[in-house]
Amino acid sequence: MCGIVGYFGKRKAAEILVDGLRRMEYRGYDSAGVACLFDTRIDVVKTPGKIKDLRARVDAADSVAMREAVQGIGHTRWATHGPPNEINAHPHLDASGRFALVHNGIIENYKEIKSGLAQHGIQCVSDTDTEVLVQLVAYCYQGSLERAVSEALKKVKGTYGIVVMSDHEPGKLVTARCGSPIVIGIGKDETIIASDASAIIPHTRDAVYLEDYDMAVVTSGGVEMFDLQHAPVNREVTAMDWDEDAAEKGEYAHFMLKEMFEQPDAIRNAIRGRLDFEMGTAILSGLDFSPRDAAMISRVLVVGCGTSMHAGMVGEYAFEELAGIPSEVEQAAEFRYRNPIITPTDLVLAISQSGETADTLAAVREAKHKGAVVAGICNVVGSTIARETGRGVYLHAGPEIGVASTKAFTCQVAVMLMMALKVARTRRLARHDGEELCRWIDRLPELAEAVLRQNDAIKAVAKKYARCDNAFFIGRGYLFPVALEGALKLKEISYIHAEGYHAAELKHGPIALLEEKTPVVALLNNVPGKDKTLGNAEECKARKAPVIAVVSAGDEGVADGFDDVIVVPDCPACIAPVPTAIALQLLAYHVAAERGCEIDQPRNLAKSVTVE
Ligand code: AGP
Ligand code: GLU
Repeated sequence: MCGIVGYFGKRKAAEILVDGLRRMEYRGYDSAGVACLFDTRIDVVKTPGKIKDLRARVDAADSVAMREAVQGIGHTRWATHGPPNEINAHPHLDASGRFALVHNGIIENYKEIKSGLAQHGIQCVSDTDTEVLVQLVAYCYQGSLERAVSEALKKVKGTYGIVVMSDHEPGKLVTARCGSPIVIGIGKDETIIASDASAIIPHTRDAVYLEDYDMAVVTSGGVEMFDLQHAPVNREVTAMDWDEDAAEKGEYAHFMLKEMFEQPDAIRNAIRGRLDFEMGTAILSGLDFSPRDAAMISRVLVVGCGTSMHAGMVGEYAFEELAGIPSEVEQAAEFRYRNPIITPTDLVLAISQSGETADTLAAVREAKHKGAVVAGICNVVGSTIARETGRGVYLHAGPEIGVASTKAFTCQVAVMLMMALKVARTRRLARHDGEELCRWIDRLPELAEAVLRQNDAIKAVAKKYARCDNAFFIGRGYLFPVALEGALKLKEISYIHAEGYHAAELKHGPIALLEEKTPVVALLNNVPGKDKTLGNAEECKARKAPVIAVVSAGDEGVADGFDDVIVVPDCPACIAPVPTAIALQLLAYHVAAERGCEIDQPRNLAKSVTVE
C-alpha cells in the first residue's frame, strides 16, 4: 500500500534505502523500517513515526550491516492489520531471523495460514497479516529462495508487492507482485526495486514494471523474471520520463501549494496539441477511436474514487450536455460488486491519478470481462490501470506528490471536456460550437492563473473560518461535483468536518445542522442554476450560517448581504469547475495551514489506495 524499496549493488544500502523511503513519504505512512544483509547476517531497524526518526535510529545502530551492507530492503507502512508500532512495522523476519520481507497490500487468508503455521510450532509475534508470509517462505525453503517464495505465494489470497531476502543466499533479492505495484530500476552495477518510480529516478531511468503474478530474482548477474510456475516471462525495459526536480518542493512550503501553483502549466501540458480549432474537436490519439467508433458509443460509464470520481462527475455532465449520450458515474468499488449491466457499445472510462487504485483497477477488469470498451484517464505513465486499459489519455500533469489531489483534478476535468468534445462532434455538436469550446478549454490555464492571483484574498477568508468545526459546500449542475470536491479537500487536510451537497438537497435534512458557527460555501458562479442556488444560500443565511459566496467576476453584486466573497473568472458552466475548484483548494490549504496541520501527509491518508 505504501512504500517498498530494495537495493542490491555496490553502494551502501542503508543510505539508499532510507533516501528512497524519504522520496516516497508523500504516499502517507505511519511507520518505517529497513533490513540490511551483510556477510551472513540480517539486521533490522524500524520505528513508528517518520523517516527522520528511522534515519536517526539507523545512524545510531550498532550494526555493521547498517554501515557496510550493499544489499537491503525498506518499507513505509500504512497499517491495515494491527496498530502502527515497532513490532508491526516492516521488514518482518521469520522465527529464525534468516528471512526478511517487506510487503504492500493485504493477505486476506492470513488467519488460516497463521493457524496452519501454529500447528507446526511456528508462532507469529506481530499483529500483521504480512508476518505469515515471511514465516511461510521460511517454512517452504528447501535451498532456493525464489522457489520458497513462489510456493508461499501460491498459498496466499489477497494483494501483494513484496521483496524478500535471506542470509542463506546473500546477493539475492526476490520480488513479486499481485495488485500492488513493483518497478525494478536497472542501473549500472546496481538494481533498485520500488513500489514507486520516485525512489528509482535518482539512480536510473531504465525500469521494468512487473505485472500481476510476476516474480523477479535480482543477483549480481542481473534480473530474471518468472511467473509463479517458474516459466520465464519477458517484460520490456522502459525509460522513465520523470523530472527529478518535479519530486522536490523547492521554494514552496508544501507540495500541495506547489502543485496548486503548477496548475496553469499542468493544464497547458494536458491540452497541448490536443485541440483542433479548425474542426472544433479534440485530438486524443491514445483513445484510438475513429469518428465511426465514437458515433457507436451508446453510454458512457465513468468509474473512479475520491477526487477522481468528482472529476468523472464533471465529465458526466459534459457527455450528456455536449454529446447527448447517457452517462453515469459510479464509485469504482460499487461498480465492481454490483454486477453492472454493460453492453458492447458502452464506453467505460476509468479515471485515476495514480493508476493504481485497487477499486478502480478491479472495475476495469470487471468492465473488460463484460466486453465493454474501456479507456483510462491516468496521470502516472506506465501505471497498472494505464497498461490494463491499453487505451486512454494521460494527463501529463507531472508527478503529484501532495496526498490531497489538486492539479490532477483540474487536468482530469480538462481531459474529460476534451473527450466529451471529441465524442460530441460525432453527434449533434456543431463545428462552430466545438470551436468555441476549444477556445475556452485553451483558456483554462489563464483562468487558473487568475484564481491563483487571488491567493491573498482567499487566505484572508480562510483565516476567518479556520477555527470552525463544521462546514458545508453547495452547488448545482457542473458545480455540484465541485462542491463535493471542495468539502473533500477541506476535510482531508484541515480535519474540519465538511460536507458537499447539491444546493437543492440542503433543505431536505442537512439544513438542521446550520448555526452561527457553521459556514456555507455557496457556488454562485454566473451559470445556469445560479438564481436557485442563490435562494438556497439565502435560506442558509436566514438560519444564521455565515455564507462565503463564490461569484463570477463582473457579477460581484450577487454576494451582497453575504459574509465573504471569492471572485473567480466568468466562464461557461462546463469550464467553471476548473477555476472554482482552484479557489476551493486554496481555501482548504490556508485553513489547514492556519490550523497548523501536516498538509502534505494528512493523518490516516495514503496517496494511493491499493487495498479494497
Ligand atoms: C484526493 O485528494 C484523495 N486523497 C483521494 O480521494 C484520491 O483522489 C483517490 O484515492 C483516488 O486516487 P486515484 O486518482 O489515484 O485513483
Ligand atoms: N497489510 C500490511 C500491514 O498492515 C501491509 C500494509 C502496507 O501496505 O503498508 O502491515
